[in-house]
Amino acid sequence: MQNIEVCLTPELLHLTSLEEKVVVVADILRASSCMVTAIAHGVEKIIPVAKIEECRALQMQGFLAAAERDGKKIQGFDLDNSPFSYMQPSLAGKTIAITTTNGTQAIAMSKNAHQVIIGAFLNKTAIVKHILSQNRDVVIVCAGWKGKVNLEDTLFAGAVLTAVMGHFHFENDAALLAYCTYQYSKHDLLVLLANSSHFHRLNKLGHSEDIFFCLSEDKYDVIPALYDNVLMKLQP
Ligand code: MLT
Repeated sequence: MQNIEVCLTPELLHLTSLEEKVVVVADILRASSCMVTAIAHGVEKIIPVAKIEECRALQMQGFLAAAERDGKKIQGFDLDNSPFSYMQPSLAGKTIAITTTNGTQAIAMSKNAHQVIIGAFLNKTAIVKHILSQNRDVVIVCAGWKGKVNLEDTLFAGAVLTAVMGHFHFENDAALLAYCTYQYSKHDLLVLLANSSHFHRLNKLGHSEDIFFCLSEDKYDVIPALYDNVLMKLQP
């Protein structure tokens, strides 16, 4: 039986070897949900970059560019970090460079893996099917918030673990923690989430619609996967 491990924050990634493993990066509110939505709506490529300057440089080269810090769009960029912004038909076929507070950092830190894929509640079942088909150890990397653990990514990890229970060995206690947290609140994720820091932050910024959308399950059957530092639809 293969192992599945949860890394509750990228700050703990140095403790885990990613080589030969499939890494699922999750930043539920909202980076990974945006990326899944974008690819599902026909965006061809997403270039995730850790730094604002890298994103600006790609914009100067002519790419559409999205930049978010602390939940807010950075002035001068084309797109924000709301999944609804990535549903525009005009974006189909386009390449978008993106930098976000935590999500793109988590992707950058996961690059040594055999494969990096992007998970969200929006494509949960597609992720579950894929990891069950790979015969490889899996690490779910929660993007967290500025190095700290957050609830929404932990809940997503717990939801995936619940779906693969019996097919993987739970490698560490973080997996157990995520699993139990999800069990506690799976009938209404908002019971716990309504007290969480990023829920409050996004609500204050007027992004409550985004929160509800990002918590909806299995709207899309696509998986963004990293090929040479560029996210594209996972090829079968
Ligand atoms: C992040 O990368 O931390 C986020 O996606 C933040 C956000 O969009 O609210």
